[in-house]
Amino acid sequence: MLRHFLQFNDCSRAEIEYLFARARWIKDRLRQGKSHLPLQGKTLAMIFEKASTRTRVSFETGMGQLGGNVICLSKNDIQMARGETVQDTARVLSRMVDVVMIRTFAQTMVETFAAHSRVPVINGLTNEYHPCQVLADIYTFLEHRGPITGKTVVWIGDPNNVFYTWLQAAALLDFKVHLSSPAGYPVDDARITAAERARLETFADPFAATRGAALVTTDVWTSMGFEAENEQRRRDFQHWQVNAALMKQATADAVFMHCLPAHRGEEVTDEVIDGPQSLAWDEAENRMHAQKALLEFLLVGEVKTPS
Ligand code: CP
Ligand code: NVA
Repeated sequence: MLRHFLQFNDCSRAEIEYLFARARWIKDRLRQGKSHLPLQGKTLAMIFEKASTRTRVSFETGMGQLGGNVICLSKNDIQMARGETVQDTARVLSRMVDVVMIRTFAQTMVETFAAHSRVPVINGLTNEYHPCQVLADIYTFLEHRGPITGKTVVWIGDPNNVFYTWLQAAALLDFKVHLSSPAGYPVDDARITAAERARLETFADPFAATRGAALVTTDVWTSMGFEAENEQRRRDFQHWQVNAALMKQATADAVFMHCLPAHRGEEVTDEVIDGPQSLAWDEAENRMHAQKALLEFLLVGEVKTPS
């Protein structure tokens, strides 16, 4: 059956747990210097309508390590920029390549692409979701602190694409999400399910939100595509910063995560992102290991991982 990964909950809980176990094995194998080439002869096409450092490098390197090839297409490289439809682009690309990763603006674009594709489509970030990011983030938490079920994750700042993905993950894996965002930047209730609502608690005060959290996370105040709001957001979000005083409110062994790129001195201070609680760099590296597990899963299916 053709599978896509457009939202975090396109996978079941059991499949997400499989991906975590598989990422561990794939990462260990790489570290042991052993090759793992299940995707020889397969090609990944990537379409970028927004900038990227981690997503591009992690998919490109990861696909290569799995034995496959990569074609990286920026918006202006392809005829979509000159009006070829998403549907036709999907029909054509999916006759030639084996899997497609897309970074774009509207979630509807990746959904339309997937609906006309013969091959799996992966969401590499839209305005609405960033499922590969949260897959890597929770895998990173698991590596350092064990299962996330029952824990509290606090999101400080903008309830953006990464936040809504965390909320999907909370419903799927059963953990709590605390959110503190400025007035005027609420959660859109129309976008969340009853199960997600049940895992979410919102706070006006970021310090109150952080009490009891095992994982403190944030993101830029202005996401890609919203640059026109930059100045307004700088003013509105100035008190929603993860700094040492805020981190002290969390549990003693709390970790800090940031999907990156960070705007140091805005949503996070140097002392936190460079400090002992920060997992930001492991998190970035784990994008590659988690996505390798995902690529293998979408193209080959579940593989029995030796314990
Ligand atoms: N976190 C993330 O997706 O980074 P890039 O924008 O660099 O791909
Ligand atoms: N929320 C950010 C994440 C970047 C990886 C954005 O969409 O720009």
